[in-house]
Amino acid sequence: MEEKRIRTIGVLTSGGDAQGMNACIRAVTRSALNKGVRVKGIVRGYSGLLENDIKDLNAVSVGNIMHKGGTVLYTARCPEFIDPDPAKAQAAINRAANIAKAHGIDGLVVIGGDGSFKGAQAISKYGINVVGVPGTIDLDIACTDYTIGFDSAVNIALEAIMRLRDTSSSHERCSVIEVMGHRCGEIALWAGLTGGADAILIPEQPETANFENILRVIMENRARGKKDNIIVVAEGIGGSVELAKRIEKEIGIESRATILGHVQRGGQPTAVDIKHASMMGAYAVDLLLNGANNRVVAFKKGKYVDFDIDEALAMHREPSWDIEEVNRRISTYY
Ligand code: ADP
Ligand code: F6P
Repeated sequence: MEEKRIRTIGVLTSGGDAQGMNACIRAVTRSALNKGVRVKGIVRGYSGLLENDIKDLNAVSVGNIMHKGGTVLYTARCPEFIDPDPAKAQAAINRAANIAKAHGIDGLVVIGGDGSFKGAQAISKYGINVVGVPGTIDLDIACTDYTIGFDSAVNIALEAIMRLRDTSSSHERCSVIEVMGHRCGEIALWAGLTGGADAILIPEQPETANFENILRVIMENRARGKKDNIIVVAEGIGGSVELAKRIEKEIGIESRATILGHVQRGGQPTAVDIKHASMMGAYAVDLLLNGANNRVVAFKKGKYVDFDIDEALAMHREPSWDIEEVNRRISTYY
C-alpha cells in the first residue's frame, strides 16, 4: 500500500492534564514545522474536535509554554465517544474525523492515557493516521516505563510528605497521606519509598491495606524508638480520613489524614518530564511522517520505541513490586 504523505498534523490533549503536556505540544509543533508540515491545535480534546474548536499553531504560539503546568490546549473527557449506544458513539467518532479532515488534518497526535488512545484508535478507522503519546501522572500505561507528568507528581507528593513529617514529628503523630493514581499504586510506591513511609497501601495489593497489619507496623516501629509515622495511601485504596481516625481510636496515637488531590497535577514540570515530553513529541511526529498509523510512543528499557495501539492496550501492567518489597524491609525499625 502506498504511504500517505502527511501535510497537516493535529495535536490534542485528552483525559486528566499532566505537567509536561505543554512541552510535548511544543515539541510536536516545532518538529512538524521543521519538516514543512502544518500544525493545528485541537482545543479541549475530542470534545473540542466535535465542536470544531481548532486553531493554527506556529513556532511563536508554542513559545514560552514548555515550563508551564496544565495544557494550553485545554483538556476534556468526551462522553459522546463512549456513548452506551455503539451506533451513536461511532457517529460521533465519524463526525470528529470528518471535522479533522475538513481542516486538512491527516495525522493526529493524541497526548493522554489509555482511554484517549482508544479514542485515537477509533478515529484512525475513519482514515486519519494517529499516534498516541502517554501523558498522565498515574504511570498506569502497560506498554511504557514512563508517562509524562509522573515525575512532577511524585516530587510534589514527596515535598508534601517532607512538610508533613515536620509537623508529624513535632507532635509525635501518625500522618496518613493519600496520593493520586486512579487505580494504580505507582505514585504511592515512589512517594512512599522516597518519603520514608512506614507502610504503602496500593490497590494492586489490597493486603497492604489490612488494618491489623498497619497497626502492627506502627506499634512495632514505635516500640523500637520511632516517634512518628507516615502511611502513604494510594487513591485506589482511599479511605485515609477513616483510617487515621481508626488508628487513633484503636491504639491512641494521634493521627491526621491529608489528601493531596489535584495539587499533584499543577506547577512547573520537572526536567525529567520536559525531557520525556520533548523526546516523545518529536518521536510521534517522526512516526507520522514515516507513514505510521495506530501507534503509541513508549519509553522502554531506556529507549524510545513504539507499539501498535491495539497491542499496547492489550498489555498487562506490573506494579513496581521491588519498591514495595524494599520499602517494607527498610522502613522497619529493627
Ligand atoms: P485517559 O486518557 O486519561 O485514560 P479517559 O479514560 O477519561 O482518560 O479517556 C479520555 C477520553 O477518551 C474519553 O472521555 C473518551 O472521549 C475517549 N475514550 C475513552 N475510552 C474510549 C473508547 N473505548 N472508545 C472511544 N473513545 C474513548
Ligand atoms: O489520571 C489522572 C488523575 O489525576 C487520577 O490520578 C485521578 O484519579 C483522576 O485523574 C482525577 O480526575 P479528575 O481531574 O477528573 O478529578
